[in-house]
Amino acid sequence: MAQFTLPKNSKITKGQHTDASGDGKNTKTFKVYRWNPDDEANPRLDSYKINLDDCGPMVLDALLHIKNTVDSTLTLRRSCREGICGSCAMNIDGTNTLACTKSIEECSENVKVTPLPHMPVVKDLVPDLNHVYAQYTSIEPWLKTDSPAPDRERLQSAEDANILNGDDGHGPAGCILCFCCSTSCPSYWWNGDRFLGPAILLQAYRWIADSRDEFTGERLDALEDPFKLYRCHTIMNCTKTCPKGLNPALAIAEIKKQMVAKG
Ligand code: SF4
Ligand code: SF4
Ligand code: FES
Repeated sequence: MAQFTLPKNSKITKGQHTDASGDGKNTKTFKVYRWNPDDEANPRLDSYKINLDDCGPMVLDALLHIKNTVDSTLTLRRSCREGICGSCAMNIDGTNTLACTKSIEECSENVKVTPLPHMPVVKDLVPDLNHVYAQYTSIEPWLKTDSPAPDRERLQSAEDANILNGDDGHGPAGCILCFCCSTSCPSYWWNGDRFLGPAILLQAYRWIADSRDEFTGERLDALEDPFKLYRCHTIMNCTKTCPKGLNPALAIAEIKKQMVAKG
């Protein structure tokens, strides 16, 4: 039988347990992925038992409570704390989601918190987004026009704006670039160097579908590649996991449809 070994330093070890719940009765334990590039040790899962009466209702509140009162070395990204900036994306109890909108109540008794999967880690819960941002740059995510600029803004009909915003507010313009979708996509795990993945393809579609953009043909041509687009096998993990309720798989299908129509 073939023997597989994990890359050096990739095996997660058991970490320390800290009971910081005091006399609290309303408690929960958070098992948090820890890795420091400076100490050459394997990653570990540290666990922290906390009193939920001491913090707010969301997983981000618990993590910040741990950082502020138990272990200041815990490293994570966050900014808006209301599901707008996408920076607190991580894997909570096995699902990629936003820590600031994930209620502690919905989590298991021993909440497992790890970074977004299949991304290099900078430290603890912080993934390295350099590659995915370079892919984002590659689709030229801005309005491209040839015609002379009007005196005022380039207008759009309500119907055309609706394609971007969606009838239910879940159109491609609602994407916050959290990358929960791309990091849940098996095709992106294995071919992320060349496949653009659902987040970037949804963004590509956002500009292809924009009635004000005058480079639709060029944008479609740029995606005509066996890897950039066609590694999507409609597995649908992306749509299932999107914490904003968007549908990247549908956006990818729309791009493919427009490619066929263009010929
Ligand atoms: S539908 Fe496509 S992009 Fe979405 S998870 Fe599946 S393979 Fe990945
Ligand atoms: S489509 Fe959803 S999951 Fe993917 S990056 Fe945008 S907001 Fe995040
Ligand atoms: S902190 Fe901005 S989306 Fe969570």
